[in-house]
Amino acid sequence: MPNTIAQLLAEPALLQREAETLLKRHSASLKTAAKSSWPALQPRLAQVLPELLGLYLQLYGDLFDCYYQLEQLLKLLAKSAAQRPEYLQAEDAAPQHWHKSNQALGSACYVDLFAGDFEGLKQRIPYLQQTGINYLHLMPLFKAPEPNSDGGYAVSDYRSTMPTLGTMAQLSSLMQELHQQGIRPVLDFVFNHTSDEHRWAEKAKAGDPAYRDYYFFLTEAERDRYAPTLREIFPEIRRGCFTQDKASGLWVWTTFNSFQWDLNYANPAVFSAMAEEMLFLANQGAAVLRLDALAFVWKEAGTNCENLPKAHLLIKAFNAVARIAAPALQFKSEAIVHPDEVVKYIAPNECQLSYNPLLMALLWNSLATRKTRLLTESLQRRFAIDPHCSWVNYIRCHDDIGWTFDDNIAWQLGMNPDHHRQFLNHFYTGQFPGSFASGVPFQQNPVTGDCRVAGMLASLAGVDKAEAEQNQQHLDHALARIYLLNSIILSIGGLPLLYMGDELGLRNDYSYVNDPAKKDDSRWVNRVAVTESQLAEATQAKTLSGRIYQQLQHLVKTRASLPVLGDGTTRILTTDNPHLFSFERELQGQRLRVVANFSEHPQYWHGENGQTFTDTLTGAKLSSGAVPLAAYQVLWLIS
Ligand code: GLC
Ligand code: GLC
Repeated sequence: MPNTIAQLLAEPALLQREAETLLKRHSASLKTAAKSSWPALQPRLAQVLPELLGLYLQLYGDLFDCYYQLEQLLKLLAKSAAQRPEYLQAEDAAPQHWHKSNQALGSACYVDLFAGDFEGLKQRIPYLQQTGINYLHLMPLFKAPEPNSDGGYAVSDYRSTMPTLGTMAQLSSLMQELHQQGIRPVLDFVFNHTSDEHRWAEKAKAGDPAYRDYYFFLTEAERDRYAPTLREIFPEIRRGCFTQDKASGLWVWTTFNSFQWDLNYANPAVFSAMAEEMLFLANQGAAVLRLDALAFVWKEAGTNCENLPKAHLLIKAFNAVARIAAPALQFKSEAIVHPDEVVKYIAPNECQLSYNPLLMALLWNSLATRKTRLLTESLQRRFAIDPHCSWVNYIRCHDDIGWTFDDNIAWQLGMNPDHHRQFLNHFYTGQFPGSFASGVPFQQNPVTGDCRVAGMLASLAGVDKAEAEQNQQHLDHALARIYLLNSIILSIGGLPLLYMGDELGLRNDYSYVNDPAKKDDSRWVNRVAVTESQLAEATQAKTLSGRIYQQLQHLVKTRASLPVLGDGTTRILTTDNPHLFSFERELQGQRLRVVANFSEHPQYWHGENGQTFTDTLTGAKLSSGAVPLAAYQVLWLIS
């Protein structure tokens, strides 16, 4: 009698034996497919297959062709391993803890806006190196519908690039060059949906039942089983989460835009097909894949279809696939959801890296309120993660700012979370009296009143208003806010990620309103082009860009001299001054204390009595008692 799935899942030894049997049965054909990669692949298969099998059975064990599908997947892993370039195989053999370094520094850019095309980007490598960048997220660059593709997040073919950027071969060569220059390339893995022009979608539209099963083609009744509990992501563009297919009259699941078709992962053929695309991207040279919209990948009626347990199983299965066929590949989670859910994606066998949207949102919150309690209390609960994983700490990205904090903590601090979010939206869109910010609203929901904010770092931090007023003090404050935000993401622990153009203090670009394909998506206000002459200003200390860039460089260089700001632990501290934020880093007995003033008024910090400190940012010697901090000042203290 073969074991039942329940028995296999309950008993690790049985699962192990089942995996061994499976491997033995297929090892001859896998060996042939894997070619010269077999000696490296075989032990990895032996090690990871029990885990992959367990995940696979939980996802697909009920299907009659589960084992057949799994065997197809294994063949694909062997084939992909055979195609892996030699320089990446060398990476595969090395442990991947580069993201723990005190010199790890990331940037995200659109290839066209930053450098025109792939060849142009090669010319910009010296600028990246001068800035200290060693992790570069190349924003979506795949073939996509024209003119609107949600900034490339509607992919029509994962193996072709946008022709205006260059060819896939040029992208591959660029990524190899980046590796050689010490910069890890990061690509998006847009796996929740394809565009409606992907060949799978085209076949589905034509009525091919195998490809209809790649997506959700629902009758009205089926649609209505799901619809009532779903959140609307782009309510200004379109209501609801479904789009009617003209030919069949059926409803296609489209969480985002109507041209972004959600994939149906309950179908194991979709898992295999996307695993193949994923390994293709890894073999082109991606060191990290950013798992786009990963919270949405599993659907179940009666839920909000976000963060479901099977979404985690699915991502873990992709991770196991990567550890077998492309082990150097790391995953970055893009879960912009409740903080309790964000952390659940972070694990060595799920996503080794994750955006830190809580820190992002609450840094902006602290600047608006000049208070740090919500930041402190929230991070005390939600900053600690597995020591092998890293936060990706950012101030801005290509998307909007959503105010994703835990309502319970807000209530405990005496704040009504909804009212507070309204305040933040008013503040950052510049409507609140006295606000320093120039942002624009994004996706106002007419029913819930919910809204998010878009804008470049400098504009949100107050540069635009200060310049318009020609107010020197306000401009100094705006620059001090930028410095403060940068100082936190560079010291709190994790990989700091800069958004291209923010390092130079580039401002909002409102020209998107003249482009019919962009005018309804205000995130384009913070997707700006970077010109040659703007880059040249980096080294001109007298220009505004030069000042911002060089202040950032000072932080980057100071950090690079302090190992404790790399692979250390972080303790978020409570201070007795509501305007100060403080934490302590520790590495092998070395300690560094950060104290930051989130208000434009001078504050005092009270250290433990009798201690003396050096501020590593200024070299100043300070003795505790009452340590003064100027407007927005930050201290990196060692004793
Ligand atoms: C992610 C991207 C965003 C895109 C969405 C749908 O959130 O960052 O730009 O609109 O996914 O793919
Ligand atoms: C993301 C997030 C949402 C974000 C959007 C892109 O997946 O869940 O908050 O705003 O997609 O804008």
